[in-house]
Amino acid sequence: MKSPIETFTNWVKTGKDEGMEKNHKEPVKKMIELILVSNKEFSIIDAGCGNGWAVRLISSNKNCLVASGVDGSKLMIKKAKKIDKKNQYFHGELNTWIPKKKVDVVMSMEVFYYFEDPQCIISKIYDEWLNPGGQLVIGLDFYFENPDCHNWQEQTGVSIMKLLKINDWIRLFKKAGFKEVNKYQFCQSKSWKGTLVIQGSKI
Ligand SMILES: C[S@@+](CC[C@H](N)C(=O)[O-])C[C@H]1O[C@@H](n2cnc3c(N)ncnc32)[C@H](O)[C@@H]1O
Repeated sequence: MKSPIETFTNWVKTGKDEGMEKNHKEPVKKMIELILVSNKEFSIIDAGCGNGWAVRLISSNKNCLVASGVDGSKLMIKKAKKIDKKNQYFHGELNTWIPKKKVDVVMSMEVFYYFEDPQCIISKIYDEWLNPGGQLVIGLDFYFENPDCHNWQEQTGVSIMKLLKINDWIRLFKKAGFKEVNKYQFCQSKSWKGTLVIQGSKI
């Protein structure tokens, strides 16, 4: 079994990282719509940004003042920096990395179940990454109520993949201090229960 970061580093070597843009783009566009509802200017970090495609996507919005991405895979960050000179990318382990300046929005697609203790990263983002009034929006395809994903850990051989229920994710957000915690399931089709999106605000 390989760690999540080793696994995704291998994906860069084979070009498989580019498939994530294709597979995650539609639900991420829905997450971005949620972020843009307020119509206010904002700064944003993409936590576990991979090759940075979602940073590039959101940074083109007129209300987006600063966009950056952080990822634990050096090769992902190297690729993101090579493609995009406008936005900032950082190599870092999400459990320990802290932004120099807090932001208004943290988004993350398909990352938070790769932690032994997801509470830790959610609380850390609340305490150390977000401005008051800020929000955390995460997308997850791997969750209990989506049976199509149940064999993914076996298929991918990734060492840590936490299969939590929707209510578990909501509880983790609330325990960290998030208020107005909302959940959505975007892009459902047949047996696919959609991307679970959890959004919480730091009041
Ligand atoms: C499924 S990929 C998603 C990438 C990107 N969000 C996307 O949608 O294309 C998960 C990403 O999380 C990163 N990652 C996983 N665990 C991490 C950790 N503990 N610290 C930093 N990055 C991590 C991996 O390197 C990988 O790029």
